[in-house]
Amino acid sequence: MRAKKNEDDREDEHFRDAVARRQSLYSAEALRRGAAVDEAIAMHPQFLAGLNAIDRAFQLGRALSTPTGVCIVGPAGVGKSTLLEYFLASLPPNDLFEAGRGAIRIRMPKSPILGSTIEAILSALRYPFPKTNNAQIAIKRQNSLDALRQYRTHVLLVDEAHNLCRPTTSKGACGDEGTPVTEYLRQIVDHRVGLVLCGGAGLLQLQDRDKYLHSRCASAVEFKRFDYDRDWMSVISQLVSQCPEHGMATLLSHANSDRLQRATRGSLRWLKMLVIEAVLISTDKGRTELADEDLRAAFDRALAGLQGLANPWRDK
Ligand SMILES: Nc1ncnc2c1ncn2[C@@H]1O[C@H](COP(=O)(O)OP(=O)(O)OP(=O)(O)O)[C@@H](O)[C@H]1O
Ligand SMILES: [Mg+2]
Repeated sequence: MRAKKNEDDREDEHFRDAVARRQSLYSAEALRRGAAVDEAIAMHPQFLAGLNAIDRAFQLGRALSTPTGVCIVGPAGVGKSTLLEYFLASLPPNDLFEAGRGAIRIRMPKSPILGSTIEAILSALRYPFPKTNNAQIAIKRQNSLDALRQYRTHVLLVDEAHNLCRPTTSKGACGDEGTPVTEYLRQIVDHRVGLVLCGGAGLLQLQDRDKYLHSRCASAVEFKRFDYDRDWMSVISQLVSQCPEHGMATLLSHANSDRLQRATRGSLRWLKMLVIEAVLISTDKGRTELADEDLRAAFDRALAGLQGLANPWRDK
């Protein structure tokens, strides 16, 4: 009887803790408004140039035997993966390729190896039994090339492609002639699949790591963090207009758009983190319009971990 009572007490305690914890988080309405900001996409000039380059690789990759690879390079948080995601989501169903297989995306891990790259491509193609082991590598490699042709895949998007360029001590490394993984990517390009390599500045070393793959990816688009200029203002105004439910017009004032650029150092990731947090705070304060104090509190919550920058909404 006593044991049962202790158990009930503990359950009550857990329940009270859970309620308290939930109350310290944001409300469902705040999360709904935050999600709207999360989903907004700004069509800025770098993004459009990137889309154009992928469209080109997509269109020409299968049509021509001449390779049409492209490198999209930029620092963390500028929107490289978002661009790939947007391109994939915007691909309409088409008779020219199998649904969902016209463009596929893989992500290069830190130490890419051939077997797992083949597996990643087979999985992206939804090929049955993609797993491979050393004994099956040659067969699975051929299966992947056959599948790319059979499904009429137009373009392979490789995210985190700077990992292809890390100095490696593996036996496969061979001066500027590449690794088994880059050699496999070369073979894919030669099978008339467009190639988009997307990654950080390390990708600029491709020429020194695999001059042959580099020569197949001669086109390049650079993504940069934003300065406080017209493009930045356009990003902010697109965010504001795509999220009409919570008023964000205050972000368009000269003072706030300048502070936003300084607070986020022109990074879209940090911009989204800050504005989402401000909308969450603002909603739960009962407001329908963002106020400076929401931005001040949001900076402290979301971005205070960034070193060496005082809260721009505090140092007026
Ligand atoms: N065009 C855009 N419009 C609106 N928000 C964007 C845009 N591009 C990126 N973002 C926002 O910035 C965040 C970071 O973008 P993303 O993850 O694509 O950057 P990344 O360049 O791939 O960074 P990393 O090199 O760290 O992987 C995204 O979660 C998204 O919220
Ligand atoms: Mg990314």
